[in-house]
Amino acid sequence: MKRIYLSPLRYPGAKRQIAHHIEKLLKEYGCTGNVFVEPCCGGASVSLYLLEHKVVSSVILADKDPWVASFWKVLFTQTDDLLSDINNVEVSVQQWKDFRANAPQTTREKALYCFFFNRTCYSGILDGGMIGGHSQTSRYKIDCRFNKPELMERIKWIADQFASKVQVLPPVSVFDILEQAKSEEYEDRVYYIDPPYVSIHLYPHNFRKAEHQKLKASLEEFRKPWILSYHEHPQILQMYGSNTSLEHSSLNVLWVAERAKTGKELLINNLSSVRNKQPLPPSSLSPSQHALWETSVSVVSDKEELLAET
Ligand SMILES: C[S@@+](CC[C@H](N)C(=O)[O-])C[C@H]1O[C@@H](n2cnc3c(N)ncnc32)[C@H](O)[C@@H]1O
Repeated sequence: MKRIYLSPLRYPGAKRQIAHHIEKLLKEYGCTGNVFVEPCCGGASVSLYLLEHKVVSSVILADKDPWVASFWKVLFTQTDDLLSDINNVEVSVQQWKDFRANAPQTTREKALYCFFFNRTCYSGILDGGMIGGHSQTSRYKIDCRFNKPELMERIKWIADQFASKVQVLPPVSVFDILEQAKSEEYEDRVYYIDPPYVSIHLYPHNFRKAEHQKLKASLEEFRKPWILSYHEHPQILQMYGSNTSLEHSSLNVLWVAERAKTGKELLINNLSSVRNKQPLPPSSLSPSQHALWETSVSVVSDKEELLAET
């Protein structure tokens, strides 16, 4: 099975479009065959891409959102239960309202809620509004992104191919993962962090300014290989642009949350400095002194696929 979009989750801010740039970085710095740790995994599009292309040996997935963490856990360890729950669930306005009124209790229920709301809410936003609205008068109905046979086949394929290569952690914050990793001895782990956007509410768990700053402080003292992606925002350029020990790239992408529009994603990493084992110099230059190099990603050919996924 060869498809462009492997993740069964329609994730706002998904990074499938920049996955091959991450592959290039891993190859350039000799990180192929490493363990890829994704602490803000969401739809896990980069991890799935790297596994499919055999760039990394295994992945560790984590997310602070218990529904998201449960979805991946159940997909890889109770695949038949998940498939059966998806097969049996009625995709209707009444079911949507019932789920909203009753919080899930078990890991298995959380996994189903994650998938159900991801496929029936606008742009896959888990706490967002119902596709088509409660009156269902729109051209798009609640089940228009819920092609059960195709999605179930995709889930089964992912579990069959990768279950032995994926570890899913219980819900945990990226800050705890980075803190714990500091005292671990592993030499073959690369951390990929794709945090929530600045100033946009897309997830039940978002970052305020203080958390974006805390992440920067954590990463600057984290001496293991890491890659960070962010949608381009002046606050992020301001925060990271002056650190000359980091590599930055700016990539053109197509965003599809709300409506399709082109934008830029920043990829920031410390691979050159940790691979050469150089000490981090102080952040001395202003952002304008440190040029961001630009790489164009072809978005036109992907546009139809992207829109089909929203
Ligand atoms: C930009 S999305 C990740 C999208 C993902 N890279 C993909 O391609 O589908 C950010 C994710 O971070 C999660 N998140 C928010 N706060 C977090 C925290 N403190 N620790 C870990 N994950 C967090 C959100 O639940 C969300 O799933």
